[in-house]
Amino acid sequence: MDSFSKILCLLLVLLLQLKGKITATPIIPTKVTVEITNKLNMKHLIVNCKDKNNNLGVIELYVNETYSFRFYPNYFFPQTLYFCHFSWLYGDHHFDIYVEYRDLWCNHNVCSWEIFEKGPCKIKSGSRQCFAWDKPSAKIK
Ligand SMILES: *[C@@H]1O[C@H](CO)[C@@H](O)[C@H](O)[C@H]1NC(C)=O
Repeated sequence: MDSFSKILCLLLVLLLQLKGKITATPIIPTKVTVEITNKLNMKHLIVNCKDKNNNLGVIELYVNETYSFRFYPNYFFPQTLYFCHFSWLYGDHHFDIYVEYRDLWCNHNVCSWEIFEKGPCKIKSGSRQCFAWDKPSAKIK
C-alpha cells in the first residue's frame, strides 16, 4: 500500500469507530434512580408511588429521610411515568415524579426531589427547581 491508501484506511477505521460510539451510546440501558427526601416541617411523610403496571408500596419517611427507587426508562418510546401520592397531617397531594421528557437528563441518572408543604423541588447541581402539586381533579388514582 502507498502512504495515501494507508491514510485513507486509517481514516476509514477511525470513522467506523466513531460511528460505533455514536450509535451505541443510547442503546446501552441505564437505570434511573428517583430519590425523594422529606423536607416537611417536623412532619412524617407518607409516599406511595406507582406506574401504570406497578405499585411500589407505601413508605413512611421521617424528616430528612430519603426513599429511592430504580427502573429502566423506555428510551425508544419515551413515555415512562411514575406518579406518587404524598400525604401528611393535613396534607394530601399527587405529583408526577418521573416524566421522561422532563427528567431524562437527570444528574448521572439520579433524579433527586425534596418534598415541601408547597410542592416538590427538583435538585439541580445544588439549586432547586420547585413545582406546584398536581391539581386534585387532574387524576383519579
Ligand atoms: C433536617 O436537615 C436540615 C438541613 O440539613 C436541618 O437543618 C434540620 O435540623 C434537619 N431536621 C431534622 C428533624 O433532622
